[in-house]
Amino acid sequence: MLKEHIESLRRELERHNHSYYVLNAPTISDFEFDRLFKELEQLERENPQFFDANSPTQRIGSDINQSFVQVAHRYPMISLSNTYSQAEVEDFYGRLQRLLNQDFELVCELKYDGAAISLVYKNGQLSRAITRGDGEKGDDVTVNVKTIGSIPLRLRGNDFPADFEIRGEILMPWPVFDELNKERSRQQEPLFANPRNAASGTLKLQNSSIVSSRKLDAYLYYMLGEDLPADTHFGNLQKAKEWGFKISDAMRVCHNLQEVFDFITYWDTARKDLPVATDGIVIKVNSIAQQNYSGLTAKSPRWAIAYKFQAEKALTRLNSVSYQVGRTGAVTPVANLEPVLLSGTTVKRASLHNADIIENLDLHIGDMVFVEKGGEIIPKITGVDTDARLMIGEKVQFIKKCPECGSALIRYQGEAAHYCPNENHCPPQIKGKIEHFAGRRAMNIEGLGEETVNLLYDNNLLHNIADIYELTIQDLARQERLGNKSARNIKTFVENSKSAPYQRVLFALGIRFVGETTAKKLALAFPSIEQLEQATAEQLITVDEVGERIAKSVVSYFADEQNIAMLNRLKGYGLQFSLSPENLQATATALAGKTIVISGVFAKHSRDAYKQMIEQNGGKLSGSISAKTSFVLAGENMGPEKLKKAQSLNIQLVKEDDFLKMI
Ligand code: IVH
Repeated sequence: MLKEHIESLRRELERHNHSYYVLNAPTISDFEFDRLFKELEQLERENPQFFDANSPTQRIGSDINQSFVQVAHRYPMISLSNTYSQAEVEDFYGRLQRLLNQDFELVCELKYDGAAISLVYKNGQLSRAITRGDGEKGDDVTVNVKTIGSIPLRLRGNDFPADFEIRGEILMPWPVFDELNKERSRQQEPLFANPRNAASGTLKLQNSSIVSSRKLDAYLYYMLGEDLPADTHFGNLQKAKEWGFKISDAMRVCHNLQEVFDFITYWDTARKDLPVATDGIVIKVNSIAQQNYSGLTAKSPRWAIAYKFQAEKALTRLNSVSYQVGRTGAVTPVANLEPVLLSGTTVKRASLHNADIIENLDLHIGDMVFVEKGGEIIPKITGVDTDARLMIGEKVQFIKKCPECGSALIRYQGEAAHYCPNENHCPPQIKGKIEHFAGRRAMNIEGLGEETVNLLYDNNLLHNIADIYELTIQDLARQERLGNKSARNIKTFVENSKSAPYQRVLFALGIRFVGETTAKKLALAFPSIEQLEQATAEQLITVDEVGERIAKSVVSYFADEQNIAMLNRLKGYGLQFSLSPENLQATATALAGKTIVISGVFAKHSRDAYKQMIEQNGGKLSGSISAKTSFVLAGENMGPEKLKKAQSLNIQLVKEDDFLKMI
């Protein structure tokens, strides 16, 4: 009875997931979905005997660091040969005519630009998700893939083969990508250049709950196996759609070359309105028998080809180069161009990235340059038309001084960027530090965003982060666009921030290279700011994930008297500069509620030492793997039986180093 109830809740939630993520047509409110989800979660918690690794509750991921196991592909993941011209598509067609010597159909599809994935389904259940890797073997990323709403964990219907593989592309939709990069920029983390990198980077994250928050999507486009449902590629994909997979509607069965070209022409434009990145068209022989007959070459199948869209290019004149100083002090060269139309927008500026790129292009003012908008967001200069150089202009030389404050720029060893070192007096850096300090993951002072910070800075009310605590409601309310209500709100957030824990404050200070994770680790190793201040570079380096670069940056931060003066002011306002007892306690309960099995031999500590660590951190030891096992602490040469058991139950294997990081 209870079992049936749990099962029916699972089915219901699966149906809603399918409507929402695959059909884009929600059938229930978020509120109601959450209610059902919580009910299922509770029932599963109370009745662990009914655990199911593919229950909708297993999609939310977990905070445990996983390490990826390499798995061989059942069928190698070979790639397609690329063409860039319609003439080459004609050649492809001619080759097939000669080879097959009979009528054939072609299927045209979009070429999605993400991270390739292979999914294996056994008895209608997702059993494994593997990245392409080197084509022969890839990483088992099942735990992460399960968090993707449009990938079914259990299939609908009952006419699927007992064992088959389906391949497709994991994608990060443009709006998600834009939002992620915005957030990364707020957190001073490096940006992803395009959604493809963002999708594959996300798939490889060790923490699946972060993957879950990144809202990936997936289209499937190729089914493989022994007893496939149809004798055509198109037929197989239509079946896959019935089973709950997301199959693109942008697909056409073509009977001649003209139809193929029509598809290409149509989608070359229409693709720009899609929410995900595409970089071409894939053309495949429809009949599976004809596919098998045409076979493979060394690198790719003879029955398919990828036609890649031309990255749109334009030729225009380089008028000048200007330099922008970012919030971190990084200086970016920007090309000012004679306005030119490219992919529907007028381009006036393009990024030149860094000094090396300028040097390699041998750029001169007045040059005619090629501008391209590839999969990247910002157009870039890809070349110079040297034949069009009538008179050679001045060679572009990277500036030596900061355009904002005049300080001599520096370039850290091994880094491409130039930096302005004047962190405390260079205007964009001051504003950047204040914004970062107020950020959601830092002190969470709502209302103190870019615009307001600019306003307060320009009106001489903010010179550094300590000034935030001197702002009065009157000061704030006097600003244009702010008003009494927002002023009071900001002030409340400012007051609340005084209780933000030490590790957040440490991150908020914006010490160069000290991100959120590093701040946490430093706070644990040096539980008060005085201890951190006294630490030498050698001592700092002993902290996990802290290398020479970070250590040097911390030391130089505390060597600066102005920073010390500012910290003293912040202490005076009552901010938290030491780890609270709850925080210390929390570190000792890192494994609370977890049941852990140890297997294999370890390099860094003895098995007994690990047992002790598990217990000291609130975890429970268990001798055998079961559905209740939270994870296996896996050393080298783990027993084959245990390995099999863990894999069949989809239990994570945590390696020694990752385990140490966890605690
Ligand atoms: S079919 C043997 N169809 O492009 C044929 N691939 O080099 C297997 N891709 O690795 C691939 N959209 O990652 C196919 N509609 C589509 C595709 C597609 C994107 C990717 C895939 C593949 C690469 C081809």
